[in-house]
Amino acid sequence: MRRLRPCLRDSSRRLRAFSSAAAHDLPADDCVRFEDVVRAHHRIRSGIVRTECRPSYHLSNMTGCSIHLKKEQSQVTGSFKERGARNAIMSLSEEQRRRGVIAASAGNHALALAWHGSQLGVPVTVVMPTVAPMTKVQNCRLFGANIIIHGGHIGEAKDYALQDPALQGLTYINGYDDVEVIAGTGTLGIEMLEQVPDCEVLVVPIGGGGLIAGIALAAKTLNPAVQVVGVEPRRCASYTAALRAGHPVTAEVLPTLADGLAVPQVGPHAFAVARRWVDEVVRVDEKDVALAVLRLVEGQKMVVEGGGATGLAALLPGGPLDRPDLKGKRVVVPLCGGNIDVNVLGRVIERGLAADGRLVRLTLRVSDRPGGIAELTGVLAAAGASVKDIFHERAWLHTSVDQVTIKAVLETLGPEHNAAIMRSLADSFPAAVDTMRLEGTWTEDGASNLSGRAAAVG
Ligand SMILES: Cc1ncc(COP(=O)(O)O)c(C=O)c1O
Repeated sequence: MRRLRPCLRDSSRRLRAFSSAAAHDLPADDCVRFEDVVRAHHRIRSGIVRTECRPSYHLSNMTGCSIHLKKEQSQVTGSFKERGARNAIMSLSEEQRRRGVIAASAGNHALALAWHGSQLGVPVTVVMPTVAPMTKVQNCRLFGANIIIHGGHIGEAKDYALQDPALQGLTYINGYDDVEVIAGTGTLGIEMLEQVPDCEVLVVPIGGGGLIAGIALAAKTLNPAVQVVGVEPRRCASYTAALRAGHPVTAEVLPTLADGLAVPQVGPHAFAVARRWVDEVVRVDEKDVALAVLRLVEGQKMVVEGGGATGLAALLPGGPLDRPDLKGKRVVVPLCGGNIDVNVLGRVIERGLAADGRLVRLTLRVSDRPGGIAELTGVLAAAGASVKDIFHERAWLHTSVDQVTIKAVLETLGPEHNAAIMRSLADSFPAAVDTMRLEGTWTEDGASNLSGRAAAVG
């Protein structure tokens, strides 16, 4: 719940939130109601982009579902977070608006709050940890927010935001657990059902849980037959941990390509609402996320960050929702954000190519005499493989001084092409067949250590 300082706002809502508090003081599951979402829908519509929701021929073909993409990455600041941020700001009293708001965030919530604060004339302070990406820090400053860089991670930034005496009097807005943020996010559910009225399934990423809570509440109220499926990265499965425990608990967080979803503990309000409405939650691997980002760039010409592409990741072949019961169904997938640094995007795409078998590592021993390597590259060229990197290894090859081990990274068309390349190499270098290896460059660990970005929002 939003921390209000020094005075409390909207005490009836707070009472409602805890009226049927169970063990662990979990808020009531109607702490956000459909009427709150409708109010938010009406309140924020003039300041939020009604993003497109379009069918995708390529992805439908690939998944066997009828996939519709809701393009939230085309909001002004590049994510759905604007809906909740604007609604939260607009629900403040005059006095609270005058004093201003504060949040701790390294990412999309910070940008959303900074932008809508500037639009609505409300001063915004964001405490960002030292690991926050420079582009996001700069963009928040451009929107006129007061940026305080404090703490090595988001938890320290949040403690500072809540406790520093100089910041007392500002209203704290949690990026996924504030009731007005959840209600604002629910407007995305209303829009998706308006745009695809015969929608059967919604597949929604989970970080702190606010997004899925709002969407599920709105969509299930409008059409109880709609199935709502949550998706979280296996490397930060905090919603699954909360489901098991019956209340939010701190889960292990390993670095993930879906950095926007790396929230160690889901919010209690978000969890209480989501648990009532969400049908199912699945987990995806890093490989699925990298492939989803790649498919969106390549097939749809869309830049979507890892967290934003996580719903699609679950539906791709081999993903946890690649299941017979979903085939042929009309599925809407929100692409929740597009804020990915270009250098990280490049590396995610590279990991996606590796996961797709289109970036492979060749090891082969050839003659170290003049022409040996030329012969190899000639065979590779004739087989249609492109050499991205090539490296000779002599010092560790003890068996023969006239041999050299070649290690090369190749761009290929995928598994079938790789098999054909291996056949060509075996034909041309029969004596080297025993030393020949062509392997994918994918590792779950290597893929995840890309971004080095902070865990999200609080
Ligand atoms: C791009 C993106 N998608 C999805 C989410 C998940 O939202 P929530 O934290 O409300 O579950 C986030 C959270 O920051 C995000 O940045």
